[in-house]
Amino acid sequence: MIPKELVLEIRDRNDIENVIGGFVDLKRTGTNVKGLCPFHNEKTPSFTVFPATQSFYCFGCGAGGDVITFIMKYQNLDYADAVEYLAARAGINIPASSFGGEEKGPSRKRILEMNVCAARYFREVLFSPEGKVGLDYLMNKRKLSPAIIKRFGLGFAPDSPFSMLDYMRKQGYTDEELRSGYFEAISQKTNKPYSIFRNRVMFPIINTAGSVIAFGGRVMDDSKPKYLNTNDTPAYKKGKNLFALNYAKDLCGERLILCEGYMDVIALHAAGFGFAVAGLGTALTSDQARLIAKYTKKVILTYDSDEAGQRATERAISLLSEVGVDVKVLVVEGAKDPDEFIGKFGSAAFERLLDGSRSKFSYRADAVIKKHDISTPDGKLAASKELCAVVAAASSSVERDLNLDEAARLLSIDKKILAEDVERARRKLLKEEKNKLSLEAYTSARGIGDKINPDIAKNLGAASAESAILGLLLAFPEHRAAVASGKIELSPDDFVTAFGRRVFEAMMKLEGSELGFDITLLGEDFSPDEMGRIQRMIRERMMLTENGSAVLTASIDTLKFERAIQTAKDSGDKLAAFEAKRRMIMENKKRIHK
Ligand code: UTP
Ligand code: MN
Repeated sequence: MIPKELVLEIRDRNDIENVIGGFVDLKRTGTNVKGLCPFHNEKTPSFTVFPATQSFYCFGCGAGGDVITFIMKYQNLDYADAVEYLAARAGINIPASSFGGEEKGPSRKRILEMNVCAARYFREVLFSPEGKVGLDYLMNKRKLSPAIIKRFGLGFAPDSPFSMLDYMRKQGYTDEELRSGYFEAISQKTNKPYSIFRNRVMFPIINTAGSVIAFGGRVMDDSKPKYLNTNDTPAYKKGKNLFALNYAKDLCGERLILCEGYMDVIALHAAGFGFAVAGLGTALTSDQARLIAKYTKKVILTYDSDEAGQRATERAISLLSEVGVDVKVLVVEGAKDPDEFIGKFGSAAFERLLDGSRSKFSYRADAVIKKHDISTPDGKLAASKELCAVVAAASSSVERDLNLDEAARLLSIDKKILAEDVERARRKLLKEEKNKLSLEAYTSARGIGDKINPDIAKNLGAASAESAILGLLLAFPEHRAAVASGKIELSPDDFVTAFGRRVFEAMMKLEGSELGFDITLLGEDFSPDEMGRIQRMIRERMMLTENGSAVLTASIDTLKFERAIQTAKDSGDKLAAFEAKRRMIMENKKRIHK
C-alpha cells in the first residue's frame, strides 16, 4: 500500500488542469476550464475542470473526481497503478517498502542525531577562518547581524569534498549513515565518497518539535543550483514542513506571513515579524496547508512578484481556503521579494504593506485590470466582463456585494450598472449548471437504473436529504468537525442508502485520523464512477448560497423523519406514518418562521 501522505504529495505535484490538458483540449471560461468530455460523446463541452478544488466533473455524464480518478478512468488503471503513473509523471519515487519490501538503514532517531552534529559542525566552521567567506557573505552582503545568524543556527560547509565527512566519521557516523542522511554521495567518476554540501552557507531546517530535520545550502555567487536542499531521508519528507515554523508557531495566532524564501523569513524575523514562515523549495502542498491551519486562521501570502510567484499565489489561495484559513495577499512593490523590500524601504514600510494586504478578490481583480488597458473602451469592457464573472462566481451574496463595490471602484463604473451585469452572469452561471445537473438528475434521480446507488429508489426523499448532508460534509471542514465532535448528531445508521453510509463512514474515519480528511484518499475505496457521484454531491452544494449549519441540521432532521415515515409505512402502520409526516411538516414550518 502506498502511504496516504505520499498519495497526497503525488496528487499535489500533478496539477489537474495540466494533466487533463494533455488528453483533452481545454478552454478557459472565467474561473473554470471546459472541454469535450472524453467519457461520453458530446458536441458542446460539459466536461469541466475546477482548478481551485483540483477536481473535474462532467455535467453530461456525471464522471468526476480528482486527478487520480481521471487517470484511472482515462487510462483504465486501478487506483495503485494510477497513483504510480502520476508519481512517475512528477518524478516522484515510490519507496519499495510501499510494496511490501523491508526498509533498511539508519533510524529516524539516528539521522536526527547526525543532523544536530552536522549543524554544530557547520556553525563552528562559519565562525572559523575557513568560514570567513561565508560569514562575510551573510554579514556584509546579506546584512545579517551575528545575533540573527545565531538565532537561525546558520553555518558554512567548507569548500572541500572531504572535511565534513572526515569530521562526521570521527564522531562515529558510518558512510552508510552519512549517505542516508544526505551528506555523502559517491562520485560517478572516481567511485569515491564526497560531501554533498560544499562552499555553501547552510540553513538548518527545524520542525515544530525542535529537531533539525534537514538543511538548505546557498551558493555565494550566481552558480547553480542556488540552493541545495536535503533530499528525502528517513527523518525528512519534502513538502511537509515550513521553514521557521519552530519560532513562528508561538507568534502566529493572529496572522502568519507565508513567503517563498529562507532569506525572506530571516529578514522578516530580523525586522520584528517573527510570525513569518517559508515553504521549502516546493509549491505549497496540502500537508503544509493543514500544518498551517493547526496554528493560525489567517495567512498573508507574500510570494515573489514574478510570474512564478503569482501562480504559486493562486495555488496557495485554493489550498489554504480549503482548510478553512482566511487568506490575504500582500503584493510587494518596488522589490522582488520581502527581503529586498525591507532592505530598501525598512520595516515600518513593510508594516504598512502588511496592513494594506489585499483580499483574495482584490488580488484577482488586480490581475484582471493589469491584463487590459482600461483607459480604452474596449479594454474596459473586456475587463468588466471578466471581473463580473469573478464576482458572480462567489457563492455568498454578502461577498458578492462587497466585491461588487470594489469592482465598481476599480473600473470607475456605476455600481448599479455593474450589479446588473453580475446578476446576469450569476443567473447564467446557475442556469447552466442547473440545466446540466437536472439533465443528468432526470436520468438518475428517480433512482431507476441507478447503478451507483441502487437504494435511491427505495426512499427518494431520504436519499435526497442524504446527498445534501454528504455534500455539505464533503465540502465544508467546519461541518465535518461539528459531526466529529458530536456537536451535530449523525451516525452511519441514520443513512438510508448503503452507498451514502459507506461515504459517510469512510469520510469520518479519515476525519478522525492523524492526516485528516482529504477527498483524494477516498479514491482508494471508491470506484471512479462512485467518485463521480461524490463529486456531484459537492457540486450541487457549491451552486447554492445557503450552506451553513442550519441547512445541515435541517437536512439531518428531514432524513430522520423520512426514515420514520418509511419505517411506519413498511410496517403497515398508516397512522404512525401520517403522524411522522405531520411532525416533519411542523418542524419545517417552525424553521421557516424563525
Ligand atoms: P528564490 O530564488 O526566490 O531565492 O527562491 P531567495 O529565497 O529569494 O534567496 P536569495 O534572496 O536570492 O538568497 C525561493 C526559495 O525557493 C527554494 C529555496 O527554499 C528558496 O529560499 N529554492 C530556490 C530552492 O530550493 N532551490 C533553488 O535552486 C532555488
Ligand atoms: Mn531573495
